Amino acid sequence: MKHLLATDGLDPDRARSILDTADELKKTLLGREVRKLPTLRGRTVITMFYENSTRTRVSFEIAGKWMSADVVNVSAGGSSVGKGESLRDTALTLAAAGADCVIVRHPASGAAHRLAGWLEEAGTSVVNAGDGMHEHPTQALLDAATLRERLGELKGRRVAIVGDVLHSRVARSNIHLLAALGAEVVLVAPPTLLPAGVEALPVTVSHELDAELPAVDAVMMLRVQAERMHGGFFPSAREYSIAYGLSEKRLKLLPEHAVVMHPGPMLRGMEIASVVADAPASAITEQVRNGVHVRMAVLYHLLAGEEDK
Ligand code: CP
Repeated sequence: MKHLLATDGLDPDRARSILDTADELKKTLLGREVRKLPTLRGRTVITMFYENSTRTRVSFEIAGKWMSADVVNVSAGGSSVGKGESLRDTALTLAAAGADCVIVRHPASGAAHRLAGWLEEAGTSVVNAGDGMHEHPTQALLDAATLRERLGELKGRRVAIVGDVLHSRVARSNIHLLAALGAEVVLVAPPTLLPAGVEALPVTVSHELDAELPAVDAVMMLRVQAERMHGGFFPSAREYSIAYGLSEKRLKLLPEHAVVMHPGPMLRGMEIASVVADAPASAITEQVRNGVHVRMAVLYHLLAGEEDK
């Protein structure tokens, strides 16, 4: 594997292999006082974030460091991007400086694919850490790792993805990965927050959250992305919360084994009640924890895996 740009088209065997590696890494490191493996010693990983992030950026940095890679963080604000340097020139500069892998988050859909093209000659790997409204593949992989931990194999499981699907790269990556792993996906959203062409996706669609909850194994709540709603937010925040928020009352509609998830950052009280986010059914903290092991596994497959280099 040279790059990880999307889950759309990701070979299901490759996805399972990354998840298995993440499981192994988690078991290996669990309870160890010094969580450091020598695997990527001498390799250089650069994170390049043009949009805000807490979870993805920090967990990639920790993942690289736990595998002994040299990790350098570049942000748009503190770099020559602020002087007008293009994405291409910035990427070529990082490759020339010795990057073996560039992890990029960018507001433009397709930015990671462009970067991978520009860095082909340099031989630098690219990981998409979220590009506009397109994909966020490592989020979907860590979500799958969390679901496997709680539910076992995903084949035949039913997962509801709820809320602002239109703007969500997390939803898009999860739809493709869950389908590839044999799970059923139901999107639950108001018509205004569904993407054009939704009928071409491997999903069913519902507008009634209460009707779906009793029949799912997991519910993924999405963040309402106000920063991408330049034309205003419809329904209103209050209407949204009433129709699509995961309240304490709605939690009781879920089967006992069902898992509650949210990629974060979450708007407590709007997308999800605080008491639900902190309930035993919630795997939100585990999602973050698994994010480190999954990102270690991704770096391993890109930089240390021997096959199809
Ligand atoms: N889930 C996620 O991508 O979170 P961050 O924006 O904090 O990285």
